[in-house]
Amino acid sequence: MKEQIESIRREIEQWLGQAGADPALKREGLFAYKMEHLGKTGKISALSKGMRDVAPEERPEVGKLLSDLRRWAEENFDSLEQELKKRELEKKYSSERLDVTMPARFAGTGSIHPVTLVKNELIDIFSGMGFDVFEGPEIERDYYNFQALNIPADHPARDMQDTFFVTKEFLLRSQTSSGQIRVMENRKPPIKVLSPGRVYRSDSDATHSPMFHQMEGLVVDKNVTLNDLKGMLDEFARRMFSSETKTRLRPSYFPFTEPSVEVDLSCSACGGKGCRICKGTGWIEVLGAGMVNRRVLENCGIDPDEYTGFAFGIGLERIAMIKYGIGDIRLLFEGDVRFLKQFGNGGRV
Ligand code: PHE
Repeated sequence: MKEQIESIRREIEQWLGQAGADPALKREGLFAYKMEHLGKTGKISALSKGMRDVAPEERPEVGKLLSDLRRWAEENFDSLEQELKKRELEKKYSSERLDVTMPARFAGTGSIHPVTLVKNELIDIFSGMGFDVFEGPEIERDYYNFQALNIPADHPARDMQDTFFVTKEFLLRSQTSSGQIRVMENRKPPIKVLSPGRVYRSDSDATHSPMFHQMEGLVVDKNVTLNDLKGMLDEFARRMFSSETKTRLRPSYFPFTEPSVEVDLSCSACGGKGCRICKGTGWIEVLGAGMVNRRVLENCGIDPDEYTGFAFGIGLERIAMIKYGIGDIRLLFEGDVRFLKQFGNGGRV
C-alpha cells in the first residue's frame, strides 16, 4: 500500500513536471487528469477503498500517507489550474492588444458639396444684411405649400409645379415659399428671413432634378418697395459673382406676389456679350421674386395697408451651375468623387 501511494505520487509529480510545462496544456486536459486520480472512480479513491485490507496497526500511518497524498495532489492541481487561467488571459490580452500610437491609415478628406457651398455663401451674404434662417418641413401641408400662398385647390396655377402628393393633405413641398407662411404666422414685422431647403417636383432632365434646393428670402416691414428688392439683389449678384454683375427684372407671374418678376443676371462667363452658357443673350435667369401679395399677408394676419413685403426664391443648383460652369444638373447628385473633389475648400472640412 505504501509503495502504491508513493508510486502514484511520483507519477503525478512527473506529469506535473511535463504536462504542466507544456504551453499547449488546456484546463480541460488538467481536469481530465485530475479526475483520473481524485474522481469518484479515480486511483486515489480506489486506494481509500483498499484501506479495509490494511492491517489495523498500520492503518493510522497509511491513512495519514493517503490523506497527505490527496491534499498534496489537490493543492498541486489547483495551483496549476490558476497558472493555466493566467496563461489563457495573458494570451487573450496580448492577442487583443491595440497600439494606440500607431499612425492611422489616411482615408482621404471629403470636400464640401457645391450646393452646400452656394447655400453657405448665400447665408453669409444675406445674414450680413440682417436676415436670419428658418427651416420648414420637407413634407408639407397643402395649405402651406399652396392655399395660403393664394393657390387654391384646383387652381390652374398649380400646374406650374408638378407635385408629389403623399396624401390628399400632405405633399413633398414644391417650393420653399411655404416657409414664408410659417414665418409670418409666428412673427410680427419687421421680418427678414431666409428659408433654405430641399424641394421636389416631378421633373427630370439635364437642367431639372426631381429633388433640388431653393433659398427663400422674405422681407416684411413698413414702406418696403420693389426698389429695395432690386437693391438687395444687386448686392447679392455682386457678392456672389463679380462687381461687374448686373441684374434685370422682367415681368412675370406668381400667385403669391404682385407684381411678380423674373430676375436675370448678366452672364459672368462672357460679361454680357453673349455665349454658349447664356445662349447668346448675355443674361441668365436665376430667380423668381415679387412684392408679397396682399392676400398672402392677410392669410397670415398681417395688415397689408400697414405693411408691405417682398419675397424671392433662388434655385441653388442653378447658381452652382452658373458659378462653377456645370453643364448637367445630374452631376450634382451622382456622388462621383472625381467630380465632387474639385470643390470645397481644397479638402478642408
Ligand atoms: N416659389 C417660386 C418658385 O419656386 C419662386 C418665388 C419665390 C417667386 C418667392 C416669388 C417669390 O418658382
